[in-house]
Amino acid sequence: QKAKKIKIAIDGPAGSGKSTIAEKLANILKINYLNSGALYRIIGYYLNEQKMDPKDSKNIENILEKLNIEIKNNRYFLDGVDVTTTIKDSKIGDLASLYSQNNIVRKKVNEIIKQIAEKVSIVVDGRDIGTVVLPDSDIKIYLTASLEERAKRRWNEEKGEEANISFNDILEEIKSRDYNDSNRSIAPLKPARDAIIIDTTNLSIEEVLQKILKIVEESGIYG
Ligand code: DC
Repeated sequence: QKAKKIKIAIDGPAGSGKSTIAEKLANILKINYLNSGALYRIIGYYLNEQKMDPKDSKNIENILEKLNIEIKNNRYFLDGVDVTTTIKDSKIGDLASLYSQNNIVRKKVNEIIKQIAEKVSIVVDGRDIGTVVLPDSDIKIYLTASLEERAKRRWNEEKGEEANISFNDILEEIKSRDYNDSNRSIAPLKPARDAIIIDTTNLSIEEVLQKILKIVEESGIYG
């Protein structure tokens, strides 16, 4: 099959809505969706279970060589176990952010993404997809929203299951994640120079989707 593979990168900070939007967009366009944060979460979760020092690159490399990550129908498997739900926990997000600062971890995740993107058309969401992982993406979107709005969205998402966390805790959590992700030395969170920035603070999911669909249409990558 020689048809050119389409690549759409959607980057942005925690709580910007990028995963929700990226998955919906992929469904509408009938192409694949890959959540790069999920890969960091799986690895962060696993390395933490092994009590790995985030700076111990040598041992991390050995462990990652043997680690078996599979993705089937938007479910994520670690050594054959479906961890899709487990890794959604915000504590695992923090572990992902911590271990993602190690370059060996980033290399592993980038390899997985690039391999998939070579074979199929895909929407990938993350922090550095448009800048570092797939800089030749056909479309690069950078989603952002005010800190308060992002915290509000997380709060609404989480309060059912985790009623014992306060809005302020969530706000502080997102603030420190923003700081870590934006200030690390390798592949920090920032919009690619050619990314289209969408501030979603006052937009619904549907409104953001419509904006992106218009961008896709105007780009001409579809027929
Ligand atoms: O998008 P997320 O919240 O699931 O990502 C969890 C963490 O993984 C994020 O705080 C930093 C890291 N990450 C990254 O460094 N690069 C990516 N492309 C995606 C996630």
